[in-house]
Amino acid sequence: MVNVKDKVIIITGAGGGLGSEMAKLLSQQGARVWLLDLDEEKGQKETDKIRAAGGNAWFLKMDVTSEEDWRNAVNAAVETCGRLDVLVNNAAINIRKPVEEMSMDEWCAMMKVNTGSAFLGCKYAIPVMRKQGGGAIINTSSVCGLIGHKYTPEAYTASKGAVTMLTKAIASRYGKDGIRCNSIHPSTVDTPFVQVLFQDPQRKAERLGEVPLGRLATAADVANAVLYLASEEASFINGVALPIDGGVTCY
Ligand SMILES: NC(=O)c1ccc[n+]([C@@H]2O[C@H](COP(=O)([O-])OP(=O)(O)OC[C@H]3O[C@@H](n4cnc5c(N)ncnc54)[C@H](O)[C@@H]3O)[C@@H](O)[C@H]2O)c1
Repeated sequence: MVNVKDKVIIITGAGGGLGSEMAKLLSQQGARVWLLDLDEEKGQKETDKIRAAGGNAWFLKMDVTSEEDWRNAVNAAVETCGRLDVLVNNAAINIRKPVEEMSMDEWCAMMKVNTGSAFLGCKYAIPVMRKQGGGAIINTSSVCGLIGHKYTPEAYTASKGAVTMLTKAIASRYGKDGIRCNSIHPSTVDTPFVQVLFQDPQRKAERLGEVPLGRLATAADVANAVLYLASEEASFINGVALPIDGGVTCY
């Protein structure tokens, strides 16, 4: 059993497939959860579900690339709950084009959302965490933050690689303040989008053939890793890049 009871946790991209599962699990374990997303409808719906199940949850519409939105989000959590224990930088986009077809604007958009959001989240959460004596930051990277992957857009891989190293840099500088920073690296998660791709048997065989455990990740696999990294039991885990990939990155 891991302990996140009463922890105040911000999750970006919490209206999405993985973020909503993290928010649900953390709230079931007694955390107070702030769901942040650009998509108001999805974010509010997930928040309502958690509340209906008896959890403590709040939704804030925000753009993770906006400094003003970050300032407001961190302030809202601290003013309402008195502290901020955990930040999960999870929102991201993927413009699915190979490098030779990608425009500079598309490249920059991916860097801004995928990497810039983690930078801004750290920038606004760290002063609060330092003042209260510590905290934990979890950055959602990808297996593509650890290896080059031929089926994935290069811009996505580059943006997630930057998240991996931002994590280690934050971990090394702010460990002295009791702030832990770790990244998670899921392989392809079983989503409706992937199920459509998998209607092509060759594609399915190719992708599953990469996974020693022979299956896709689930949102629950990812949320369980976040639960651990957010918990008291992970209090000596800092700067780790944790694959949740059935062994994809072992090769
Ligand atoms: N699904 C996978 O197979 C997979 C695998 C490895 C890593 N990841 C990573 O996991 C994380 C979550 O992925 P997911 O599958 O849940 O994606 P998703 O698309 O379902 O959810 C992402 C959420 O981020 C939000 N978002 C996008 N831009 C935003 C912005 N500017 N401001 C605020 N919110 C914004 C979207 O509205 C959406 O709700 C991402 O970082 C992704 O790169 C996913």
